[in-house]
Amino acid sequence: MKILIIGSGGREHALAWKLGQSPKVDQVYVAPGNAGTAIDAENIDIRENDFPALIRFAQQNQIGLTVVGPELPLSAGIVDAFEAAGLRVFGPNQKAAQLEASKIFCKKILNAANIPTAYHRTFSEEEAAVSYLKASGDLQCVIKADGLAAGKGVIVCKNLEEASAAIHRIANHEFGDAGNRFIIEECLIGQEASVLAITDGQTIMTLQPAQDHKASFDGDLGPNTGGMGAYCPASLVDDQKLHWIEENILVPTVHEMNVQGIPFKGILYAGLMMTSNGPKVLEYNVRFGDPECQPLLMRLKTDLIDVMTAVIDGRLDELEPLEWDDRPAVCVVMVSDGYPGSYRKGDLILGLDEAAQCSNVKIFHAGTRLDGDKVLTNGGRVLDVTALGNSVAEAKKRAYDAVEKIFWNGCRYRNDIADKEINLAK
Ligand code: AMP
Ligand code: GLY
Repeated sequence: MKILIIGSGGREHALAWKLGQSPKVDQVYVAPGNAGTAIDAENIDIRENDFPALIRFAQQNQIGLTVVGPELPLSAGIVDAFEAAGLRVFGPNQKAAQLEASKIFCKKILNAANIPTAYHRTFSEEEAAVSYLKASGDLQCVIKADGLAAGKGVIVCKNLEEASAAIHRIANHEFGDAGNRFIIEECLIGQEASVLAITDGQTIMTLQPAQDHKASFDGDLGPNTGGMGAYCPASLVDDQKLHWIEENILVPTVHEMNVQGIPFKGILYAGLMMTSNGPKVLEYNVRFGDPECQPLLMRLKTDLIDVMTAVIDGRLDELEPLEWDDRPAVCVVMVSDGYPGSYRKGDLILGLDEAAQCSNVKIFHAGTRLDGDKVLTNGGRVLDVTALGNSVAEAKKRAYDAVEKIFWNGCRYRNDIADKEINLAK
């Protein structure tokens, strides 16, 4: 079978790498891809939002399965467009993708199914929102633009002053139409975990829990990013909690989507806060997390093509349980200095071949491009160095040993990825 993967980040490189290992797969294409996917697969120069060109490519090249990586094409209806053209595609359709694309829609589903989440109120006017805040007292809260804002539309506020300023920014269109409506939400306290499941809308298969590191700097300091590193499994979600999350969060969500007439197929990714009152949903994403996907897929032994095909055909119930490598995996994201703000592109990356020699390490590319045989930086998150180890500490050491062999002008990374897990084990 020939596969087409849509997207250009580390998640898509990991998907290309994993799907390419299947004996059922002859060829993997990635549109538009990066320097890493150019090596492990074949890049196609079509942007992820050019649906007609992607469909034409899939039809002309007998693509048996298209896998959509990022949320933007999903929320713009790429699955609907591929299905209308008679093509097989993995991911939720546009209506179901609202679970990520609209925070208000997500809350509607969560509340309808009585799923634990932060208390919230919805607003479209600055004045009404600020009056509500004043009446509530000088509390911590979280302000969220309703729509997709590249991960920047969520502002955690310590007090009334910060919250009023955040509302002002949203109301003044800092996030464009994504902020036409917004929510004010109770601030939850605890550690975060990512629990992803694969579902065909009837059956769910929960993946092993992972933890992302959203803050830019060591000790969870600095601005939020798309993710500076991840590890899997995350023992703060033990088997008992995972089971609870499945029963009380994931299954009721899939069920409620069916009740609303919007069946969900694909990856259901719950961003959870592990509060003293139990796990609560912070948000849903409708695709693999980036960088959680990289350690997850390094550990997944089951052929992903069988799982994705079963989802499309609605027969996930026929599959054996997923098989995992027992060894934990740690992923360290190397970024361009300045990210998540402005950063330079086009710097030459050195040491990739040497780092690739490290055992049990895979270097997934994110923001890179090929220039002849040179690899240049081409984004904020540049490389996702991922390693397996017999312990989390060993996986961490292997990842950082490889990271230290790589250099470009202005490269930066966190030094404490997976430390929380390592300290928990002590
Ligand atoms: P989201 O896109 O909703 O996951 O928000 C991005 C980040 O903001 C999360 O990973 C949390 O760190 C933080 N966040 C979101 N909602 C809340 C909340 N209700 N309480 C505390 N932190 C939150
Ligand atoms: N790792 C967070 C995300 O993919 O949104």
